Amino acid sequence: MKVKSIILAAGQGTRMKSDIPKVLHKITGISLTEHVIRLSKKISDERPVVVIGHQAEIVKNSLTHLDVDFVVQEKQLGTGHAVRMAVDHIEKDSLVLILYGDTPLIKEKTINEFIEFHQEKNSDLSVLTMNISEPFGYGRVIIENDKLFKIVEEKDANESEKMVKEVNSGIYLMNSTLLLEHINDIRNKNKQNEFYLTDIVEIFNQQGYNVDAYCIQDYSEVLGINNRVQLAEAEKIMKKRINENMMLEGVTIIDPDNTYIELDVIIGKDTIVHPGSFLRGNTVIGENCEIGPRAVIESSIIESGTSVKESQILRSHIGFNTNVGPYAYVRPNSNIGNEVKIGDFVEVKNSNIGNGTKISHLTYVGDGDVGENVNLGCGVVFVNYDGINKNRTVIEDNSFVGCNVNLIAPVTVRENAYVAAGTTVTIEVPEYSLAIGREKQRNIEDWVKRKRMK
Ligand code: UD1
Ligand code: CA
Repeated sequence: MKVKSIILAAGQGTRMKSDIPKVLHKITGISLTEHVIRLSKKISDERPVVVIGHQAEIVKNSLTHLDVDFVVQEKQLGTGHAVRMAVDHIEKDSLVLILYGDTPLIKEKTINEFIEFHQEKNSDLSVLTMNISEPFGYGRVIIENDKLFKIVEEKDANESEKMVKEVNSGIYLMNSTLLLEHINDIRNKNKQNEFYLTDIVEIFNQQGYNVDAYCIQDYSEVLGINNRVQLAEAEKIMKKRINENMMLEGVTIIDPDNTYIELDVIIGKDTIVHPGSFLRGNTVIGENCEIGPRAVIESSIIESGTSVKESQILRSHIGFNTNVGPYAYVRPNSNIGNEVKIGDFVEVKNSNIGNGTKISHLTYVGDGDVGENVNLGCGVVFVNYDGINKNRTVIEDNSFVGCNVNLIAPVTVRENAYVAAGTTVTIEVPEYSLAIGREKQRNIEDWVKRKRMK
């Protein structure tokens, strides 16, 4: 049977106290709603429908890459009203899976078991529920004669209902034909004057349909995020899952509590990740790498055998068996070769660096094309900006650039050339030649003695 997901993401999320819509807040690098959309795509090939409303344009624009249908709920009149907005996308004789955009931790396996339960019970409506010790704020699940009787929201619950610890997760499976028939029966006669989707339980029961609750043990999977405390809690849970997956796939993580790996990162086996490291975006790290302590790597490729210590690498490519750091800063669009050394306090930006090149200390390489087996001494500066334009510096293979050299771009140092320490290079250096551009030193005898006598 076809499973069509409807994801409710129109609410404002007042309790987040944020200018950003709640459903766009992120955990492990991707938005709450994207987590839910990805899940629904694993469950079914049907295009999910996302109900948006509060700051609809912003929400839509940040999710367009995901191939979903959007419907707009102009006024957020409640979860039942939100589902009503999506009826044009619901076909008869299928299964509707309702998910909330603020409940990102649910696992694929759990949803599949929920679907099995629904089918085995021959249910018309199943609600995923959980037992929690602090049920405050959740809809309470009222069971009678082993059947789900109704769901009562916190604000409408009486004292004995408030004692109930089984609560509604906000995830439901429904017979689409019956949902279409009865979605308009939901009324807003409650404390909040909202159209509660949860009322569908009583409506189905009145019709004599089959309604069930599927109670899961791990409540952390259905944590709904309403404020930033819960956001941090969810981040922690997701982070733990990611790290455990990595470790089970052969990555050593020295201290998982202090290692922050985003959902889409890939790491090869026998790589060691030291504490304080943040691996973000679409980063791909090879095998046998040593990452951290305190490495920040964003959407970069790090080939096997490379180490990155106490350094930042942004949107760049680093080759095999290269050493970066400590305290290096590799900025976007850099392409660093194999067996390269990028040492302490070296900054590289928008540059290519060939295999076997050594840049060991205190150097700025901006807009450069550095060949193979080049040595840049301590304190080399690529003077790439003239105040108007950024210009490129080219250093060809096997050249040697001494300490404290300024290269005024655009300029080229040809193959096998030498630049003497302290030189300011303004014109091309031919191959096999030495460029030396500094004032000849003279010594003034007894100068110090004369100065002291004054
Ligand atoms: C809801 C449930 C509650 C359940 C809890 C689980 C109802 C009436 N209550 O309460 O039983 O225990 O979730 O987390 O359903 N939304 C819309 N349009 C609206 C209102 C909400 O799209 O008009 C979306 C929100 O963006 C959010 C989701 O629906 O993603 C849940 O809304 P929220 O207001 O957080 O519901 P709760 O009060 O938490
Ligand atoms: Ca909620």
